[in-house]
Amino acid sequence: MRYYVMTLFPEMIESVMGESILGRARQSGKIELIVKNIRDYTLDKHTRVDDYPYGGGAGMVMEAEPVWRCYEAICSEEGKVPTVIHLTPQGKVFDQPMAVEFAQSECLVFLCGHYEGIDERVLEEINPIDVSIGDYVLTGGEIPAMIVIDAVSRLCPGVLSNTESPESESFGDGLLEYPQYSRPEVWHDRSVPPVLLSGDHEKVDKWRHEQSLLRTMERRFDLFKKYVRSHPDEFKPKKIRRKKRKSESQ
Ligand code: 6GU
Repeated sequence: MRYYVMTLFPEMIESVMGESILGRARQSGKIELIVKNIRDYTLDKHTRVDDYPYGGGAGMVMEAEPVWRCYEAICSEEGKVPTVIHLTPQGKVFDQPMAVEFAQSECLVFLCGHYEGIDERVLEEINPIDVSIGDYVLTGGEIPAMIVIDAVSRLCPGVLSNTESPESESFGDGLLEYPQYSRPEVWHDRSVPPVLLSGDHEKVDKWRHEQSLLRTMERRFDLFKKYVRSHPDEFKPKKIRRKKRKSESQ
């Protein structure tokens, strides 16, 4: 996976993307990151990249031309027109299925807005996919871009090791994750649930699945309903077999 990030604050991206699992994935070449400073593409001698909004009002608007020139540079580097994701609170709210879809691409370009937004005309030219990370307002698109990059990267081949595998955790199957325990066996008078010490893998799996269901029901009833609807067999009432009476047993 190759990412481009178009931003006015390149250090914000570099600092986060050099650490932990994403840092390791970059080192090993599993993901590639190219951060473009939009300011490098201004033709203004004072390197200005924003201006007052026509019609008045608060804040500044990011000018069309530096964003466009930055985008064109990326297009010629790539040799084709790439998928562009514009981070904006007006976009479709990001979720795991979108992460799965984005992870199929070989190249993604993130356009991070700031101030009061970007001149509408360059957005019309680029025609990006508008993505939001939730219903609240942030100061810019950099943190949302990194959230999307994080969620997409861990789905890319080789980014997670086997032990970090994405199979059995929150949202993989539409459920929240079960509770986890590690040593010591007793801490502050609290014991690890005995089933986890039983060595019976089948029982452990069953217990974990029940815990996932319970947690999802209690904390995210919206997800729980979705899960029940998509797994009807799991929630069919079990046929109860009446025990035969002794008098019936011959
Ligand atoms: Cl993508 N950008 C900004 N500025 N605020 C947000 C957002 C994005 N998603 C939620 N709030």
